[in-house]
Amino acid sequence: MKKTKIVLKCIDCGKEYEPAAIYRCECGGLLDVVQDIEYLKKNVSKALFDSRLKERKAPYGSGIWRYRELIHPLAGDADIVSRPEGNTNLYSHKKVREFAGIEDILVKHEGENPTGSFKDRGMTVGMSEAKRLGMKKVACASTGNTSASMAAYASMAGLKSVVFIPEGEIAYGKLSQALAYGSQVLQVKGNFDDAMSLVQESSKALGIYLLNSINPWRVEGQKSIMYEMLQQLSWKSPDWVCVPAGNLGNTSAFGKAFEDMKDLGFIEKIPRIAAIQAHGANPFYSMWKGNMKELLSVKHPKTIATAIKIGSPVSWKKAMRSIKYTDGVVEEVSDQEIMEAKAIVDSSGVGCEPASAASVAGAKKLRDSGVIDRKEKVVCIITGNILKDPDATINYHLSRIEGLKPAMPNKPTVIEPTLEAVRKVLG
Ligand SMILES: Cc1ncc(COP(=O)(O)O)c(C=O)c1O
Ligand SMILES: [Zn+2]
Repeated sequence: MKKTKIVLKCIDCGKEYEPAAIYRCECGGLLDVVQDIEYLKKNVSKALFDSRLKERKAPYGSGIWRYRELIHPLAGDADIVSRPEGNTNLYSHKKVREFAGIEDILVKHEGENPTGSFKDRGMTVGMSEAKRLGMKKVACASTGNTSASMAAYASMAGLKSVVFIPEGEIAYGKLSQALAYGSQVLQVKGNFDDAMSLVQESSKALGIYLLNSINPWRVEGQKSIMYEMLQQLSWKSPDWVCVPAGNLGNTSAFGKAFEDMKDLGFIEKIPRIAAIQAHGANPFYSMWKGNMKELLSVKHPKTIATAIKIGSPVSWKKAMRSIKYTDGVVEEVSDQEIMEAKAIVDSSGVGCEPASAASVAGAKKLRDSGVIDRKEKVVCIITGNILKDPDATINYHLSRIEGLKPAMPNKPTVIEPTLEAVRKVLG
């Protein structure tokens, strides 16, 4: 398993480093994990990954470590911290098909991961690397889900954890997880971008292992969403993958995953990535639309989808590489469009948190504008569980969201405790 050469390589100047607790090159560029393709060609196959599907326990029962060689071949069994995670389902539902106007649209529900979001896929790999490196303390800045995931995995690994969250800006379901799993929670008086700068500065100064998606191992773990999707589709590529886009870790990871799959000959056709941002937090969309060379931050991001309320996404360069590699697109959707898509996903019985529904809202918008054809096969990534943000759901159904008129409110009815009252309401 270990006869492979892995390096961390700067995406700007190409300088290479041995794997260690570093996240940026001397020049400031982000680092990529560069896998050893010759080793992989000899050691992995579709048959190998298919044979592991019968496993129930970690590592191979995990939808991440099933693809261990492609993700972290240096991690030994004793390093691996796994629940196990992944193995999330693909759903096809009439309501979603009709809403989007796409005949073959599926949703992959990453909210089925152990702590309720896709973050567990990157976290199991990042936390295992923290163990392998002998780190004692880990930290992240978070709009909520990363902190929930890191807190849980740190506790399992027996490491201390610190989360930096923007004060008053994260959903309660997520904050409650970070507290309950035992992280030290620092509420930063500022937005996510302020928390992100502070955690980078603090982890460097205090020797804490940083577990945001700036950590290249997180991105390696998140590649597994695409490996698993392809395996579920019998290794046949869909035409499109729509993904909510905030800090751009997933967008970065998906392009890298397709590159692996193509280089190994697992797929012929590369699916096109559609990265979907909220209109009030759309710097990546503006960059793509304006054909700009650099990303211009949004100073005061604003959206009901707090998980993607990010004005200065760290991974924009890697994400743009993914969009270009896959001939992808970037789209933006309004809060109204997000919440109507969420109401559809929710009422189909699948359910999701607001940011997740951006993928379905984006698929509909791209279909309406003719970018996606109704006959194409589309997979939308649902990034987080419906229980993460119950306030958003309740406020939608009670028409309490400022500036938003719900198209599908489902208000509860207050009644007297009598059969007559029930009859009257039920008709
Ligand atoms: C539910 C949910 N969706 C989407 C995102 C954004 O993902 P990315 O940062 O990979 O763009 C996040 C990140 O916090 C999230 O928690
Ligand atoms: Zn560099």
